[in-house]
Amino acid sequence: MMSYKVIAIFCAALASVNARSLQQTSAPAPAGTPSAVDIANFALNLEYLEAEFYSCAATGSPLPSSLRGSGAPLSTGCQKANLTTVGQQLAEELLKNEMNHVEVLRNALGSAAVAAPLLNVGTAFSDVLNAALGSPASPSFSPYTNDVFFLLAAFIFEDVGVTAYEGAIGALAATPYLQTAARIAAVEAYQAGIVRSFLFQANEGTNSDWPYQPTIATVVGDIAKLRASAAGGNDDVGILNGTTATLVPVDSQSLVFQRTPTQVLDIVTLGKGANGGGFFPSGLNGGLTQVSLGGVGGSISSGSG
Ligand SMILES: *[C@@H]1O[C@H](CO)[C@@H](O)[C@H](O)[C@H]1NC(C)=O
Ligand SMILES: *[C@@H]1O[C@H](CO)[C@@H](O)[C@H](O)[C@H]1NC(C)=O
Repeated sequence: MMSYKVIAIFCAALASVNARSLQQTSAPAPAGTPSAVDIANFALNLEYLEAEFYSCAATGSPLPSSLRGSGAPLSTGCQKANLTTVGQQLAEELLKNEMNHVEVLRNALGSAAVAAPLLNVGTAFSDVLNAALGSPASPSFSPYTNDVFFLLAAFIFEDVGVTAYEGAIGALAATPYLQTAARIAAVEAYQAGIVRSFLFQANEGTNSDWPYQPTIATVVGDIAKLRASAAGGNDDVGILNGTTATLVPVDSQSLVFQRTPTQVLDIVTLGKGANGGGFFPSGLNGGLTQVSLGGVGGSISSGSG
């Protein structure tokens, strides 16, 4: 049941993204383009999500409140992941990176930094997996079960982080945040590449941690397709195309994919946008709302094309 609901949400997201793209070609972008602060805060929301997930997986505890900002609510679904020594080392390194990204952005934004919004680091992952599989996963999916499940959960949003920063580069070009965003984007790309490589290896041979009928690579590909359709485009690839490795997700010119904040929002809220849903049940914090995002999408696409 849940999966059909989520698919319906993704289809609605697809339709609304298409509607917005059509609007953008037939009408000038709305006045009031977002400020650099709005965009940096948008990125901060994504960093909170990644850092919170790795904090839970690696330590079993949410981010310290000093890092989440005053008044930030506790996330739902947080727990310690059951990881091997290698998985634990990876989770700890990813956590260190994402905590530092949160700190770097919060320092850059100063008093303009938003606090962390309500985050779902539990059921949102299983909702995505069910939607990708087309039916409820059995046994049900938790990102904290084992190494492969943890990697699959990390895969769900690591590539999104890369495409989000790449999509924002155009809009940040003349702002003080450009260098920082470019350097964070590279780190996100390293992380996404590592996660994809581990999944690629886990897909080889039999893996006792993998209880599902479709192979790991098939499910990874399904999640990539789901992200692409939520973003209203053809901007994602899994780790295997037939028998050919596609470890590096790139377009036909081997350039990295880019996503507008609207597209990113549709992915991380599972199509709910500013109303909140998915990983951000109450929406994101900061100046970017679904309404104003239409203008951001337009300006970022034209700035980066
Ligand atoms: C923890 O992970 C190990 C190795 O991946 C697995 O054999 C075991 O069943 C897992 N334990 C739980 C409680 O899921
Ligand atoms: C996958 O392989 C097919 C057939 O070789 C090719 O046409 C297509 O471009 C490939 N897709 C990607 C994303 O590499």
